[in-house]
Amino acid sequence: MAKSIGVLTAGGDSPGLNAAIRGIGKAADGIYGMQLIGFKDGFRGVMENRIMMLDRQSLSGILTRGGTILGTSRDKPHKMPIGGKTMDMTDAIVENYRRHHLDCLVCIGGGGTQKNAYRLLQKGLNIITLPKTIDNDVAKTDVTFGFDTALIIATDAIDRLHSTAHSHHRIIVVEIMGHQAGWLALGAGVAGGADVILIPEIPFDINVVSRSILRRSQLGSPFSIVAVAEGALSGEQSKEQDLMDKKIENAGGPEEKAQLKAELKALSSLREGSTMRLAGMLEELTGLESRVTILGHLQRGGIPSPADRLLATRLGTACADYIDKGIYGIMVAARGDGTEPVPLEEVVGIKKTVPLDHEWIKCARAVGTCMGDS
Ligand code: F6P
Repeated sequence: MAKSIGVLTAGGDSPGLNAAIRGIGKAADGIYGMQLIGFKDGFRGVMENRIMMLDRQSLSGILTRGGTILGTSRDKPHKMPIGGKTMDMTDAIVENYRRHHLDCLVCIGGGGTQKNAYRLLQKGLNIITLPKTIDNDVAKTDVTFGFDTALIIATDAIDRLHSTAHSHHRIIVVEIMGHQAGWLALGAGVAGGADVILIPEIPFDINVVSRSILRRSQLGSPFSIVAVAEGALSGEQSKEQDLMDKKIENAGGPEEKAQLKAELKALSSLREGSTMRLAGMLEELTGLESRVTILGHLQRGGIPSPADRLLATRLGTACADYIDKGIYGIMVAARGDGTEPVPLEEVVGIKKTVPLDHEWIKCARAVGTCMGDS
């Protein structure tokens, strides 16, 4: 009998999601005659049984579209906000999976989605995930789709900021997304020739940054582009964070853990606006006028790049093959030019940050970019 497949997109949207849905759907239907049901707005849509049949017609013309035709949300099965409370709705999701007689549920998302999908796997569902996020921080895959498009957008922004910084003899601090990973800021910073790149993996010293800007000024370039990842931390902030992480790790019970997590969240929101503060401090320390550009959600919007369309199509079509073979409980990882099924338990809970000996860091330093530490 032909298999029935459910698909959802969860977490922050990412260019290439529609290409992935199309890839799964066209291969699943065209090659294997499977039926595809889309669930709207992530795990919430499965809980509320809000579906969209993904037939040939609905899959047509979506390859180049940004966002996701299914909609998305950050709702978690075990912590679903309902009427001002959060409730564990995992069983309702399991029930709807069974109601549709699904053979597999494909969850397309980033790190959080991998975790949530794993919870459903532990409830006995057949699960496959695909790695998407502009942050590129999902473990055990070469790359995630969405990253390339965001890299192009952020690099283009740096290119454009160069001429205005140069004309006004200013420092322009450009904040780049990436959550707690520096892939996007580092990649765009190197590709766009930023003078300073600050990433979460390398705690920065403001005095080191200001000295490097002053040195450029003395050498005849009284302007600088500072590419700062949204998660970048000063040495002091980084110590605070490590301390908190350790406390969370060693917490006695789930209540203490939840309390500490809330404190960590409060600490992070206190840091909101830190890019503005960073620019202000650099202005004070260097005497150069400074401005801030926060790229924000621009980095996630619009049409996916050809590389992201290719990657998403590659992962999506491979996903249909794995379903046909009955290979479940995996993330379809990008590996070289192909794909690899990685057991989900090897992916969850691991954030892929930039290794300190990564070639991108080495080459940034080699061309004289200040990484905030030396
Ligand atoms: O994970 C993708 C991402 O864009 C991060 O880079 C960023 O920290 C976060 O999502 C923003 O989330 P939201 O769209 O919910 O504001």
